[in-house]
Amino acid sequence: MTDDDTAPDGGTTDDASSAATDGGVALDPWGSAAVDDYPKLFEEFGIEDFADVIDETPDPHYLMRRKVIFGHRGYDAVAEALRNDEPAAALSGFMPTGDPHIGHKLVFDELIYHQRAGADTYGLIADLEAHSARGMTWDDIDEHARDYLLSLIALGFDPEEGTLYRQSTNRELQDLAFELGSKARYAEFEGIYGFGGETSVSHMQSVVTQMADILYPQLVDEPKPTVIPVGPDQDPHVRFARDLAARMRYFKVTEAYASFELDDDERRLLAQVYDSLADGDADGEDADGDGDDDADDTLRCEDAAERLREADTDEQPWGADQATTESLLEKLDNAGMEPLRPRVRFLDRNATDEAFDALVDAVDGEKRVFEAHVDSFDLDRAAAEALAREVEVDAGGFGFVAPSSIYHRFMTGLTGGKMSSSDPASHISLLDDPEEGYDKVKAAATGGRETAEKQRELGGKPDECPVYELYAYLLAGDDDEFAEKVYEECANGDRLCGGCKEQAAELMEEFLAEHQEKREEAEELLADLDVDLDVAESRRSITPSAEE
Ligand code: TRP
Ligand code: SF4
Repeated sequence: MTDDDTAPDGGTTDDASSAATDGGVALDPWGSAAVDDYPKLFEEFGIEDFADVIDETPDPHYLMRRKVIFGHRGYDAVAEALRNDEPAAALSGFMPTGDPHIGHKLVFDELIYHQRAGADTYGLIADLEAHSARGMTWDDIDEHARDYLLSLIALGFDPEEGTLYRQSTNRELQDLAFELGSKARYAEFEGIYGFGGETSVSHMQSVVTQMADILYPQLVDEPKPTVIPVGPDQDPHVRFARDLAARMRYFKVTEAYASFELDDDERRLLAQVYDSLADGDADGEDADGDGDDDADDTLRCEDAAERLREADTDEQPWGADQATTESLLEKLDNAGMEPLRPRVRFLDRNATDEAFDALVDAVDGEKRVFEAHVDSFDLDRAAAEALAREVEVDAGGFGFVAPSSIYHRFMTGLTGGKMSSSDPASHISLLDDPEEGYDKVKAAATGGRETAEKQRELGGKPDECPVYELYAYLLAGDDDEFAEKVYEECANGDRLCGGCKEQAAELMEEFLAEHQEKREEAEELLADLDVDLDVAESRRSITPSAEE
């Protein structure tokens, strides 16, 4: 799915990368999968550092421990659910454009890890995407689809516990794609993917289908944290799916202090102003801070404005910028005498009238009902979120939780450049003959020095070595000590490339032989599943041109 720089995608590859480029790094789902600066993805795209969540992750996979999985969006929610044995899901998809190779194995392993950690796990074949964006025929798609599924099962995916499906035969999925499409605008396709007048409608349809894939685990069951393990090239899809998930919600829950709305900065500032006013009220008297213990000590918006102005002339002790302070002051001044009281607010976004009424009924305690929102004075934020979701689902809505993602590094090609499906020497297919795998490793580029002497003296460069990568990503398996030993020995000059490659080549040969045996055993399991592996037979089609 990711380590593929082969086919064009309907003439949009160039546009797409320029659309997603923002000062250097490009994230293009149909472009070339190469990133030279991973940390940059944190700054430029807001991908979060996986190091921040690894301690909360139960029994982290070796790909996590070795920082092959380097980034995430919102994975905290999934880690927490797994830790607490609460519902969680994992899903990823594979475009059946060629053989599954060792780059795909990373994703297979990530799915299997989550399945074993207790998540409902889904693997899907993105055949609509392969047909529409890559111009694959249904015959080829059928053949590759089978190969992906066999390898996934052979590596340990339990198809009885988890779910395997293909996009083209999943009616529920397509219905969901249609619903999501009503919230996706063409301008976003242009902005996010660089789509333009030349992009085929089927390609666009494959995008809403992927949005539906990402939210599918929450459709078949209940809303729950869901992780999508993918390469960072898929991040535009993840971000879009997170947006769409929010847009589909019946209600949006926010925190407010009076009738007006706040943006996040204003809310943070007002919270501090409010706390400082409420602190002054420790004795229960003179809460409005006007110097006398009047009978009416209700805090009012004008009191907050006054406090903010006093502070403003000081040193901005609340650290808000000028624009935030000014816009908040304006709101407080306009509200004047209105009481200032913290509350959670349910904003009506897409609710039916019945759902809105049901929400009003369901809010316990003191509340105030407006035309398009309800304020509750007794619920906290988390309880309000849970209630909003419950009412939505009961009323026939989706109640989606924002999907999360984790991102792994792309493997370097064996020949030193990018790993590419179109260049067999650059990658090892999971279907390669074991001897062929052996030969490819023996022929691989290394991070070694020109001579053995220099290598002993200076050490090799494991960080730049495709062979070391094979150890770290695959051959060392769960054995951290072994991976570290290879690294240390190489860096110290104790390890020479000839022997190192021989060892790696033998391990690769063993791995492939064993994997292929397991694939044969997986045939039986696959045959028992309810996955149609012969779509071509019953499907009339033309071969869509990849370049349109
Ligand atoms: N677009 C992905 C690829 O290029 C495949 C895919 C389809 C996918 N649906 C998905 C990946 C859902 C993750 C989640 O390979
Ligand atoms: Fe790579 Fe091994 Fe050579 Fe080190 S010794 S550079 S890890 S092949």
